[in-house]
Amino acid sequence: MLGATEYVADALAEELTNYDLNSRIHLTPDLSELDPQATWLICTSTHGAGDFPDNIHAFTRQLPQASLNQIRYLLVGLGDSSYDTFCEAGKTMHRLMQAAGASSIVEPCYIDVLEHPIPEDEAVAWLNSHLQSPKFIQSLNLTGAGA
Ligand SMILES: Cc1cc2nc3c(=O)[nH]c(=O)nc-3n(C[C@H](O)[C@H](O)[C@H](O)COP(=O)(O)O)c2cc1C
Repeated sequence: MLGATEYVADALAEELTNYDLNSRIHLTPDLSELDPQATWLICTSTHGAGDFPDNIHAFTRQLPQASLNQIRYLLVGLGDSSYDTFCEAGKTMHRLMQAAGASSIVEPCYIDVLEHPIPEDEAVAWLNSHLQSPKFIQSLNLTGAGA
């Protein structure tokens, strides 16, 4: 994060407020600081050759030791399809969360910045399409959402 993905997180947080849903953005997430009652909305781009951006590396190293059975999450990955490793960090994050026992509420949203130069528009449209669904709303824990 800390670039295009930060804009995406900000736009999603703003959209959630339109539905009276609170969120708190963690730019350098740490498991000990995340609310296990909240739904986590994880946003990550891909850097290097399929790598995580610097700000989220420490968090990903915590995941293999974590037990996240009670955690529900949404995932938005940003990437560029001109790379063979398109959105690889988002896909790896999804695998790590699943392996730790967390539940993905809906299929992750992987945004190709080559096709969508304003990725926050795409992310907000994705979130909005789900927020129209009462079943989706019910599956959120309405105490808050972490990004
Ligand atoms: C040095 C560099 C390496 C990148 N590597 C990948 C990659 O391996 N896979 C991918 O899908 N996108 C890759 N991208 C594209 C970024 O994920 C994309 O530009 C994203 O919007 C960056 O978001 P950020 O500013 O939040 O980091 C790379 C971009 C740069 C500048």
